[in-house]
Amino acid sequence: MRIGMLTGGGDCPGLNAVIRAVVRKGEGQYGHNIVGYRYGWRGLVEGISMDLTVDSVRGLLPRGGTILGTSRTNPYKSDDGPQRVRETLERDHVEAIVAIGGEDTLGVALRLTDDGVKVIGVPKTIDNDLSATDFTFGFHTAVQIATDAIDRLHTTAESHDRVMVVEVMGRHAGWIATYSGLAGGADVILVPEIPFDIEEVCDRISHRHQRGASFSILVVAEGATPVEGTMELVSGERDEFGHVRLGGMGARVQDEIEARTGFETRMTSLGHVLRGGTPTAFDRVIATRFGLSAIDGVHEGDFGKMVALRGTDVIRVPIADGVRELKTVDPDLYADASVFFG
Ligand code: F6P
Repeated sequence: MRIGMLTGGGDCPGLNAVIRAVVRKGEGQYGHNIVGYRYGWRGLVEGISMDLTVDSVRGLLPRGGTILGTSRTNPYKSDDGPQRVRETLERDHVEAIVAIGGEDTLGVALRLTDDGVKVIGVPKTIDNDLSATDFTFGFHTAVQIATDAIDRLHTTAESHDRVMVVEVMGRHAGWIATYSGLAGGADVILVPEIPFDIEEVCDRISHRHQRGASFSILVVAEGATPVEGTMELVSGERDEFGHVRLGGMGARVQDEIEARTGFETRMTSLGHVLRGGTPTAFDRVIATRFGLSAIDGVHEGDFGKMVALRGTDVIRVPIADGVRELKTVDPDLYADASVFFG
């Protein structure tokens, strides 16, 4: 069988580990041919591909990013997009697709499944905001990068008696902020799930400093939003899936804290650093196991499913279960983190 594979949406460490696993078992054990489509769904719309073989994926495990390239192309954004996908599959004699991506990429996979295309999904995102899986690969690496940065910011904040604001990605979920804030010992963590009152944030910091602290660390999720009417909101352009470009809340919080408390305050936005470099061991293992289960699913004809982590087991669940709703931060987890605030 000829099987297509693509990586869509924001890149993250671990993508190449999935590609390596799918090819190693797909070709090495099942004897299939794997075709890599470039730049996410764009590769299927435009017919841009590269052959993937056991030899061509050697050494990929620790390599960040994706050798296939990625994009945020949505075939359903153009009238003939889905038809062009089917034409490419027919021309290339490809019978099934392994789609590696987040809510947008897997949302397209679900629509194509409903349109008769054979797809297996693999949940990917540093945001960890896909339902039906305990973790997505990429998340653990992003948390480790953010935690290392927070550890470093502690020493400079302490040396200057400063308040340091760290903005992290995560789109409309606060998983990266909550995990890295807890791991890094943050004094305040702001997440999209709980609108914040900047006055309360400043009071908490002031009380902390009145009790003898000389510095504070705040972790702010890029999607964190102030309580209605307490701060103006700015928004950027939108992508093909309608997502507004986030970023900038860290700078806004920095300005408000300095103006309201008088404490010298600085901001660091970790941005795409959280998506770069080599995956952690945890993400390498999860990504590898996801890839193995995905190619098993194709071989067994278990289409319309996405692989998922449930405890320590890798299972397969309907793609619809993964993309139905955003997985937001567990209130109990955030309550645990808030024990250490202020
Ligand atoms: O979905 C992953 C993610 O990194 C989000 O956390 C972030 O908001 C977005 O992608 C950034 O998208 P881009 O790389 O297209 O700027």
